[in-house]
This record gives sequence, C-alpha cells and structure tokens, in this order.
Amino acid sequence: MNKILENDKKHIEQLLTSVKSYAVDFLENIDNLPTGGKVATRQFNKLNTQGKGADASLKAFVEKYHDIIVASSGPRYWGFVTGGATPASIVGDWLASVYDQNTQTMQGDGDVSAVIEMETIALLLDLFELPDDFFGGFVTGATLSNFTCLGVARQWLGNQLGMDIAKNGIVDGLKILSATPHSSAVKSLSMLGIGSDNIIKIKTLAGNREAMDIEDLKLQAQHLNGQPFVLISSAGTVNSVDFDDFVKINKIKQEFDFWWHIDAAFGAYAACSPLYSQLLTNWESADSITIDNHKWLNVPYESAIFLIKKQHTLCQINTFQNSNAPYLGDPLDNFNYLNFLPENSRRLRALPAWFTLKAYGKEGYQSIVENCISLTKLLAGLIEKDENFKILAPIHLNTVCFSLAEESDSATEYLSRLNKVGKVFLTATVFAGNSAIRAALVNWRTTEKDVILAYTEMKKALAL
Ligand SMILES: Cc1ncc(COP(=O)(O)O)c(C=O)c1O
Repeated sequence: MNKILENDKKHIEQLLTSVKSYAVDFLENIDNLPTGGKVATRQFNKLNTQGKGADASLKAFVEKYHDIIVASSGPRYWGFVTGGATPASIVGDWLASVYDQNTQTMQGDGDVSAVIEMETIALLLDLFELPDDFFGGFVTGATLSNFTCLGVARQWLGNQLGMDIAKNGIVDGLKILSATPHSSAVKSLSMLGIGSDNIIKIKTLAGNREAMDIEDLKLQAQHLNGQPFVLISSAGTVNSVDFDDFVKINKIKQEFDFWWHIDAAFGAYAACSPLYSQLLTNWESADSITIDNHKWLNVPYESAIFLIKKQHTLCQINTFQNSNAPYLGDPLDNFNYLNFLPENSRRLRALPAWFTLKAYGKEGYQSIVENCISLTKLLAGLIEKDENFKILAPIHLNTVCFSLAEESDSATEYLSRLNKVGKVFLTATVFAGNSAIRAALVNWRTTEKDVILAYTEMKKALAL
C-alpha cells in the first residue's frame, strides 16, 4: 500500500475529527457567511507527484477555498430554487459516503441499499399522500427525473403508434403538448431525440398566469384527431409557481389518449400542508411525476425522485434496461435499479432523504413549507408597498417575481450590486417577456429576521 494512504488509514479518526470541526464551524456561522461576492482564483496547480496526505490536503483546501464558499445552504440564498440541508440529512449524507454502496440490486449482494431506496420512496409517497401504484427511484436532480419520466413517455408514445423507439430509434411525428415547461423538460426532449422545438404550445390563462388554458389544451388535443401525445404539466412553474388545473386535466384524460407528466420539482411540497394541498388535487392520476429533494426536502445536492406508474413498468424497462450485460439477468425476474433509470452505478442517494424524513416527519415538513410560504408573503407585502419595486405575478406559494419600478436601472446590474454585498442572493429571470427578479424561499433556516434584513439590503442596493 502507498505509504501516505497507509498513514491516512491509520489516522482516520483524527482526520474525521478535523473535518468535523470545519463542518461545525461552517454550519454554526452559516447565518453570517456571505451569500456571494468573492470570486475563486482560476490559477490551478499541477498535480504533485507525491501526495500530501489527507490532513495537509484539508489544510490546503481550507486555505484556498473555505472562506469563499458561499452560504448557498443558508437562510438568505433565494436564487434559483435552492434548498438547504437539514441536520439529519447531513448525517445521512455523511454515512452515504462512509458506506459507499452501489445502489442497484435486490439480489443479496449490496441489496440493503436498494431496499433503503425503496423504503425512502415509500416514505415520500406517504409525505405526498400519493398511492403506491407509483414506482420510484432516485436520480441526481429534477432534470434527470424529467428525462427519466419523458424517456418512458417516449417509449409509451412509440408503443401507441406501433413502434419500439428504444430499439429502433426515433422517428418524426411525436406530439408533445405543454404551456410553461421548465427549461429542463425542454432539455430532456432534446436529449431524448424528440427535439426541443417540437412542443405544441398551449396558451396560458389571462392575468399574468403561467398555468395552461384548459380550453386551448382541449382544442389542440382535438386537432390531433385521436393521435396519442405526451402532456407536460406543471405543479409550480419556476417564475411564479403557478399550477396547472389537475382536476380538469384528469377529466380530459378520460377523453384523449395521452401520457400525463407533472413537473412538481418543488410544487409537490404543497402536499405537506392542508392549506395548499388542494393545488395538487388529482395529481395521483398522472403517469409520471418529477420531484426534487434538494429543493424543499432540504437534503444536500444531488437528490430527486421520479415516480412512474407501475402499469408502465414494461415501457420503463424497455427504455432503460442494460440489455447488453446478460450477466445481470432478466430485468423482470431479478430486480435491479439500473434497468429502470439512466444511471448504472449510483451512490446510496436515498440515505439523506431517509434520515430527514424519519427525523422530522410530516409535521416537520408541514412547518418548513408553511414557514417558507408565510415568509414569502411577508416579503411580497414589503415589496408591494415599496414604490421602488413592482410585483409581477400573483403569489401562489414560495416565490416572489418582481421588477424594479425604475426602468432605467437594469435588473441584471441591480442584482450584481445586491449579490456582491453577500447578505442575500437573488436571480434574474424573464417573465411575460420582461426582465424580472425572483426570490424563491425553500430553506428550513429562514426566519422573519432574514426577510427584514434581506429587504433592507434590497433597498440599499438601489442606491449603490
Ligand atoms: C419546475 C422545475 N423543474 C425542474 C428543475 C430542474 O431541477 P434540477 O436543477 O434539480 O435538475 C427546476 C429547477 O429549479 C424546477 O424549478
């Protein structure tokens, strides 16, 4: 064994104690750490011939990067849709690295990790009050979940048209309908060979809404003269967190032949609160659902699940089976996750979710979700009363979409001034064709004090 490696092996306890002290320092100070500002040097050293050992590498890392790691898991990082990491999820994440399992099979060797993944999916179905006729698994993020669901949808659509796309490749003429698909669903269509331009756009509702106009959906479906299609619907659009009307879509499903996909990357968490769960009424009738865990479940990156109805298992296996590895056996007889999703080898990605679900339960998530929504409303109220800003969209859940009242100040320049200060982080977007700003609150740590502090900084940045 390499001497340096051997030395690290001998001192594992000491090493883990040192790393723990950096971790504790980071987590205990996270409220005061900058949310942005400093840029890392791009001067990269050559790989040394002789290693430094883990302890010296830790010191070198801390010296070069520790102080400029931004508090993106802190309470005022409201850019994109960025969740934090609950204490229990960090415990699970650390153990996932320590155990270093390859989560695939249920056949004895390594089966525990696949069983943990299945148990975690069952816990999540419970959290979202969804029935167990969905089969689920973990992927890295909502993009990969959309990809997985739409991959199976593509196979289903091919089957309806008498084709086996997984075997014979893609052909023209697959119909995809959507009103406000997330960019990752569009990206998935391009990765799947369906083509990102091949979406038949459904009109949205009047009044700055991003939800689809169901009458237009019906009209577009009728134009297809009975041809099957895939519908990509939204439970929480990224700008204004708008929800498509699932009760109406569910009714239309009786009339037309389509695969119903819901991108519920963070909107799924409305299910955790009786105040908001009606936004999801009938979502259990969808064929597939995308849900991100590294958003509102507040587990570390990378964690999302796909849920696909078990009735589509054959389509799913035909899409993802690792068929050129006969030693892995028949996918229907020998369960192995690698035949059901894009990746083959995967870490024990479910463990942080398992820990956080066990630790905080339904009540814990209800309180995280309701807290984020009431703080979003507090922020929206402050912005609405302020003549320097304009609210652009109704507040449906956890995001404020707004712009600067002064049109001569560009949102991007304003955000670059604000984000450099490092007290709050917001991102730019385009809403209804205009440049806009979003604040998305999905972090368990955020308090009223953070909202007031952030709003004060937002005002100060107007004059910077
Ligand atoms: C609605 C929606 N879908 C998909 C995604 C993509 O998620 P990820 O970055 O985890 O792949 C996002 C990210 O913000 C989202 O808001």
